[in-house]
Amino acid sequence: DERTFVMVKPDGVQRGLIGEITSRFEHRGLKLVGAKAIQLDRELAEEHYAEHEGKPFFEGLVDFITSAPVFAMVWEGKDATHQVRRMVGETDPAESPPGTIRGDYGLDLGRNLIHASDHEDPGSNEREIELFFDDDELLDYEQVTAEWQYE
Ligand code: GTP
Ligand code: MG
Repeated sequence: DERTFVMVKPDGVQRGLIGEITSRFEHRGLKLVGAKAIQLDRELAEEHYAEHEGKPFFEGLVDFITSAPVFAMVWEGKDATHQVRRMVGETDPAESPPGTIRGDYGLDLGRNLIHASDHEDPGSNEREIELFFDDDELLDYEQVTAEWQYE
């Protein structure tokens, strides 16, 4: 099955939404294979958001993402990268429908609570997992519910 990288951003951690957000992935049937609370340094933040280097919002984005702890996770499941992005919603919470994480908990583009690998950027999931996690931090196990979730 596919693995995808997800991170509750500093606003989500500060607002006490780690549980609400991770619950959604659990209830969907995705499998948690890694998780840790960390404080990003600028080097890691700049590498993570390298695709946005040079854009007007880049410095503010790096300032924000390094300003307080984040909660980084890896979730596994069928078509996980695309399905997680559907649950996250649009980049701007104001444009993100109710029922999505950003649409339910956010109001502002620069405070959109969560990052998830982009299914339209092939390989971003693997790249981001490798950037944030060592191999020995990722689990390999079977869920006893698997046969009730997958045909
Ligand atoms: P991530 O999961 O964080 O990567 O969000 P995304 O993939 O939905 O959006 P994208 O990668 O295009 O942008 C990364 C982050 O930069 C977004 O989550 C926003 O917080 C921020 N961002 C993107 N575009 C703008 C913008 O036009 N203005 C500002 N202020 N921030 C932006
Ligand atoms: Mg992105």
